[in-house]
Amino acid sequence: MSSDIAKRNAAQAALDYVQQDMILGLGTGSTAAIFVTLLGERVKAGLKVTCTPTSEATDRLARALGITIVLPDELSAIDLTIDGADEFDPALSLIKGGGAALLREKIIAEASDRMVVIADAGKEVARLGKFPLPVEVNPFAAELTRRRIHDRLEIAGLGGVASSWRMATGEALLRTDGGHLILDIACVAIPDASLLASLLDDLPGVVEHGLFIGYADEVLVGEAGGVRRVFPAA
Ligand code: 5RP
Repeated sequence: MSSDIAKRNAAQAALDYVQQDMILGLGTGSTAAIFVTLLGERVKAGLKVTCTPTSEATDRLARALGITIVLPDELSAIDLTIDGADEFDPALSLIKGGGAALLREKIIAEASDRMVVIADAGKEVARLGKFPLPVEVNPFAAELTRRRIHDRLEIAGLGGVASSWRMATGEALLRTDGGHLILDIACVAIPDASLLASLLDDLPGVVEHGLFIGYADEVLVGEAGGVRRVFPAA
């Protein structure tokens, strides 16, 4: 499939950013998994890197490939994080969390000197919001928090949008690696992502949200025939 080739092209290009002895943050999702797999091949060939994962899934994959994994608490710095995204706009604001790893992804991205996003061209949008915005919610009083989120959505010009709890297999609600719930919000188009982010940041029951504003330094946009490098628009 062409998006698989595009993801691979983006992941392959990200390897050029990796240098000997770097400390890397490893993202989550299908594109990040391709990067981790390619990185594993380099490690087998002699590359020395120390990595910290953004999810249990990435942790398992990286360890299985022989990549040295340490937990974030053992690190004093992270040189570079390579991660995927569900959407990016011209300012390189992102929606993330399609793989339910947004909390750990944001913690690691924030602590990194540099974040390079790898994404296929289908993730590029003029305005964020077509991809449902994931919000990680503490299970305590989750329905109350959901109502409070909708109050904030109205202030942000998003009154009347639908939201749904993400499901795992069967009837069970999905739980993140940290034991939280994910509320997916069908915004369609977010009028002011910074405003919405600050309104959600302010709610105690919201553990984290999938708006990553000011995190990405560069996006490697995978296309069928290669890669395009995108930097934040001024
Ligand atoms: C996981 C994420 C992923 O980076 C995002 O969902 C992109 O995934 P994929 O590369 O599979 O399209 O944010 O929480």
